[in-house]
Amino acid sequence: MRRTASATAQAQHGAGDINRFRHPIEFLFKEHDRQRVICAALELLADDCGADRAPENAALVLGYLEHEMPLHIADEEEDLFPLLTRRCAPEDGFEDLVALLSSEHETDEKRYLALLAPLRAIVNGLRPPDPVQFAADARTFAVLQRRHLGWENGTLLPLARRRLTAADRAQLGRKMAERRGIFRSPLIG
Ligand SMILES: [Fe+2]
Ligand SMILES: [Fe+2]
Repeated sequence: MRRTASATAQAQHGAGDINRFRHPIEFLFKEHDRQRVICAALELLADDCGADRAPENAALVLGYLEHEMPLHIADEEEDLFPLLTRRCAPEDGFEDLVALLSSEHETDEKRYLALLAPLRAIVNGLRPPDPVQFAADARTFAVLQRRHLGWENGTLLPLARRRLTAADRAQLGRKMAERRGIFRSPLIG
């Protein structure tokens, strides 16, 4: 799935987007803002998946979960966490934090994969096969995702701001850009 998402992202992002990765920690904060919008859209769909705007909302959520979320989780798991593991001091408590966040990533992945088929149905103007189950799954995902975002915005990203060196940030930005098919540029080291 990550390969597909990366290929899609490559098609979607042009070289002009390279500047977005000069400040990778701020990029991650912005992604978290987008994830809050996705949670709100999911809750609207849980309330009424037959509403006039439901197909539009479902398309927004589906696009994010299929293409952006896997990239975001990979940014954290494959690049940010290893850098912080190297830089954090024992008193930062990063070992416990990363164990919690990684286990939530695994659970989240299972949860959002279960939402894809019902969302596709709504995009096509149909009702999900089991609307009650979909509503419960959508609400649970939104609640857990907001809790996860709270940990990351409140603890993880502030720690990254404190501990990552300029070279770490350049490496992180470069890797995140490459994951989206945007290759090495002098702007991001
Ligand atoms: Fe995140
Ligand atoms: Fe995360």
